[in-house]
Amino acid sequence: MQNECWGIILAAGQGSRMAEATGGEAKQFLRWKGAPLWWQSALAMAASPRIHGLVFVFPAERRKEAEAELRQLDRAHSLGVRLAVAEGGARRQDSVRHGLEALPPSCSRVLVHDSARPFLSTALVSRLVAPLDAQPGLCGVIPGLAVTDTIKEVDEDGIVTNTPARALLRAVQTPQAFPVEELRMAHARAEAEGWNVTDDASLMEQCELPVLVIEGDADNIKITNPQDLAMLKENKTLLPCCGYGYDVHAYGGDRPLVLGGVEIGGDFLIKAHSDGDVLLHALMDAILGCLAAGDIGHLFPDNDPKFDGISSVVLLDHVMGMAAEAGLRLCHVDLTVIAQKPKLAPHADSIRRNVARLLDLPLDHVAFKATTEEKLGFTGELKGLKAVALVSAVR
Ligand code: CTP
Ligand code: MG
Repeated sequence: MQNECWGIILAAGQGSRMAEATGGEAKQFLRWKGAPLWWQSALAMAASPRIHGLVFVFPAERRKEAEAELRQLDRAHSLGVRLAVAEGGARRQDSVRHGLEALPPSCSRVLVHDSARPFLSTALVSRLVAPLDAQPGLCGVIPGLAVTDTIKEVDEDGIVTNTPARALLRAVQTPQAFPVEELRMAHARAEAEGWNVTDDASLMEQCELPVLVIEGDADNIKITNPQDLAMLKENKTLLPCCGYGYDVHAYGGDRPLVLGGVEIGGDFLIKAHSDGDVLLHALMDAILGCLAAGDIGHLFPDNDPKFDGISSVVLLDHVMGMAAEAGLRLCHVDLTVIAQKPKLAPHADSIRRNVARLLDLPLDHVAFKATTEEKLGFTGELKGLKAVALVSAVR
């Protein structure tokens, strides 16, 4: 396909302004959300339907290691776009030039992005490409924000030499979008004429080619100085969730009645593949509901001989392991068994205590109730019993 749009993700800087705070690690390689920082920009870029591929520019000396991690991350969470890798240069503009060389011939437009801006939004990516396509002759589209501070120009001694009119100033960001040919040409001129710039739009400007500034994104901050590291604190907010579970078992089988892991015994024998603990089954489904992780029928199929007669306490232990792994913390459970017979009131206290113990919850966060259906329905006809469970938790 011709006329593709690619992103260049610059990750070849030294991060010298932060080096002390990071112990010398380049900022774009700091770990965040389980991956190096440069991966966040890749996620945001690749999620835009405008983007067909990405070139990652890594420092030459860590290219191999970084490329291996890129491939591995892409296998685990596919970006769904083509990928290429280039080696960085001494200056930012050298890294961009190397990135441009790695673009395929099918690419006609490119977005150059600093991986040190990990809060990039996919919406901004799409907003940048649109004017480039709509306005022929435009040689760049860049995001910028009106400045709130008055900006001064100073000389080497700090003496003010000029105050530009604030209304006309924009603090610009990346990604910066360009037609590939024009950007290549501008970089070639910069090489030939020895220009030093801090962004690509400056090259276009020096070539007297028109660049449009569109509204940037205040969140699209560049991690630059040690105090910016605070923005990479993971959001550890606990999110509340709740789960619902429901189960039925028929009487007339061969399993003694067990509820909440407590042996009830009596004349009503349960039909079941496992031990038929209807209450723990509803409870497990409610916990799985909090995890959005399917149900017990899926986890413990009733045609699998290994679950034949198995204690539901063992199954609950497995589900609790899944909950712990997912970072789920149970807060409160409310359990109800619906049965005409046997009478459960004498067992209520031991069921409640046992469930609290199994879930490692304080007793006052485990409720147990039993009710009949007034001789109506299948419970009323003594054909079986049912249980419902509600679980609230935080993740
Ligand atoms: N960059 C690059 N190659 C370089 C220099 C910079 O790919 N030779 C990248 C950086 O990794 C960063 C972006 O360009 O994502 C913007 O540069 P800057 O914020 O200045 O990062 P560093 O140059 O790494 O930091 P510092 O200037 O503090 O050393
Ligand atoms: Mg720099």
